[in-house]
Amino acid sequence: MRYENFQDTLEAFVGELESHGVVDILSGLFPIAPLVSRARMTKMSDRLEEPLRSFIKVFLVGEFISIERFAGTDFELLIPELVRQGILTYDSAELKIGTRGIVLMSVGGLLMFIEKPHYHPTLYYGDESFALLSRLQFFKGKRVLDLCCGPGAQGLSLAATNSHVTLSDVNPLAVALCEINATLNKLGNVDVLHSNVFDSVPKEASFDLIVCNPPLLPCPISVRFPFVGHGGDDGLRVTREVIEGLPEYLADGGSSYISSVLVMGGELDSIEKLRKMVRCSGMSVDVQITAKYRVDVEPGVLQMLAATASATNKNEYERNLEKMRGHFNRASARFLCPAILKLRKSRTTEKVQVADFSDDGTASLMWYL
Ligand SMILES: C[S@@+](CC[C@H](N)C(=O)[O-])C[C@H]1O[C@@H](n2cnc3c(N)ncnc32)[C@H](O)[C@@H]1O
Repeated sequence: MRYENFQDTLEAFVGELESHGVVDILSGLFPIAPLVSRARMTKMSDRLEEPLRSFIKVFLVGEFISIERFAGTDFELLIPELVRQGILTYDSAELKIGTRGIVLMSVGGLLMFIEKPHYHPTLYYGDESFALLSRLQFFKGKRVLDLCCGPGAQGLSLAATNSHVTLSDVNPLAVALCEINATLNKLGNVDVLHSNVFDSVPKEASFDLIVCNPPLLPCPISVRFPFVGHGGDDGLRVTREVIEGLPEYLADGGSSYISSVLVMGGELDSIEKLRKMVRCSGMSVDVQITAKYRVDVEPGVLQMLAATASATNKNEYERNLEKMRGHFNRASARFLCPAILKLRKSRTTEKVQVADFSDDGTASLMWYL
């Protein structure tokens, strides 16, 4: 079977996923389940009958599966096209197929390819991706900009109910995957740009809603940490550039939502930094703090960060942990706090309002109230 174009191939592909029950399984999962429990996904797929079992193993678990398992389905006929388009790949003997390191998820009513969970992700989707999206689903009919879009969780989901969405990312692979996801979901009202923050966004563009889940983890610059998460010494490396561009790109009455991990206390204090950033900018900020983790006396969160930084070289764990402890101790920092920032153009005075919904260090739902 030969399809006219990529759109037709993907449409036929989604039809196959629907008719074999794959979409039902994906949309029944807790939004980030495939990221947290590969073992459970594997066990779950073993309970299914063929060919659903093999679909789930290829597209959710990320395994290579014998092509014979799809014999007699229309999907079998689609395989050469999906290989040609770069979505599937053969094993060396061309007897099995698997994806090129991506898996499928159901996100906000869309099917979306994301990177197969990985210690050093480059095409990120995580728990705060969905937590940010949850706060945006009331927006309808708006012109939206999704900065740092990755595979497109927020921007593409918003495209279904808004007039137009521009998405951008500095990683060309993220841009390519986001374009595939837009086509997979037949979204005609999106543009995907390769851009460092606002650099390639047209100067004359104006948006009602600007969303951003940037690399947000405060981490000393001397620690090698996955690029998608490294927010620099204060966690605001990219956020600062986003906030600086808002007065120019936000329409009157527009708003911006940015996920963040704030440093509380001492020289790195993020609230003080936000106050300085919005001074004379015409912007006001509402900060919703959802959790609080101590970095001074119980550095569990630093152990977690050091483990991520050392995932590919476990020998570096102690050194990374020491660097992190030293970094936050020198700055007299007390907490790291997941938070959602909402920024608006303010006709009165610039201000930063903080609503702290956390209990010290005990939040179980990190990104939710
Ligand atoms: C935490 S991920 C978020 C991805 C996606 N928005 C989500 O929430 O699932 C951060 C993204 O920011 C991108 N990024 C990092 N620095 C950037 C920059 N200076 N300009 C644009 N994008 C950047 C990374 O490539 C990555 O895709």
